Amino acid sequence: MSKPISFSLVETAMLTQQIPHATTVSALRTRVRTWREEGLSVGFVPTMGALHDGHLSLVRLAKAHTDRVVASIFVNPKQFAAGEDLDTYPRTVIDDAEKLATAKCDLIFLPDNATMYPEEFDTSVRIGGPGQGLEASERPHFFHGVATVVAKLFNQVRPDVAVFGEKDYQQLLVIKKLVKDLDFPVDIIPGEIVREADGLAMSSRNAYLDADQRQRAGELNKILQRFRDRLEAGEAHGSAQTDALEEARRIFDAVDYLEARHASNLALMTAGPINAPARLLAAVRLGETRLLDNFAVAAASSADKG
Ligand code: PAJ
Repeated sequence: MSKPISFSLVETAMLTQQIPHATTVSALRTRVRTWREEGLSVGFVPTMGALHDGHLSLVRLAKAHTDRVVASIFVNPKQFAAGEDLDTYPRTVIDDAEKLATAKCDLIFLPDNATMYPEEFDTSVRIGGPGQGLEASERPHFFHGVATVVAKLFNQVRPDVAVFGEKDYQQLLVIKKLVKDLDFPVDIIPGEIVREADGLAMSSRNAYLDADQRQRAGELNKILQRFRDRLEAGEAHGSAQTDALEEARRIFDAVDYLEARHASNLALMTAGPINAPARLLAAVRLGETRLLDNFAVAAASSADKG
């Protein structure tokens, strides 16, 4: 089981100075109700903390669409399987609060495990369609855990708008499906991937990489860009993918997947040239650390060849 969140008095005092925060659903709702009574709209950015500029870009995007923004920090045990990094996932709540204050977040929601999953909790939200294959093949529990916690968070916060990063492209489609199938009254806005100088997609898990792994990690986006360029130039998907896979296998300790899928629903594509908007999706391993990345691909016929 994961460690419950508990704050020392010093931490609580520091948090209170940084930015308003709520640890219970009723405190959260009281704040949000006040805003609603003032006629203000509410945006929401769910996170697991260990925040970086990728997360903060989502807060800024939410702020551009709504009057007030709530960010949640909850390391959700239901999306980790036994043996994954639940207990070692970086927890940096004071730093996170400082960053959220700088990004003009209005409220941090910090529920603990007992608030999210009281003892008798016994419900799971299961998503088919985009929730199958790719990440779900490697981590079958994962999207059930994500969909369950996000459904709860939506009901707790009741935002008008929620922002999710394209960094986790499959997760973004899963959330859109959740909202559509279960009629959640919330608009989902995608946020672009924020990258390091060498193109590595920012991730809380990049902190696990040693110097050698960090250098190799910077190759993933380059392999995907070359793959994308070849597809947009009209080359067959099958041959471009074979070369990209070969390159990736030389650099990374394992390649879980690296392929092109239909951008709207992640359906499989034929081996020929790409004739519809696609998304390249990859997950690779460096030691124990998994890196995820993805790129948009325009259909070859509509790509700018100039
Ligand atoms: P977490 O990994 O903390 O990510 C929170 C949000 O930040 C997600 O929408 C993710 O796609 C986005 N994000 C992460 N890295 C990014 C980057 N480099 N650029 C842009 N956006 C980025 O994803 C989760 O948490 C959890 O699954 C959650 C949705 C909170 C449910 O527990």
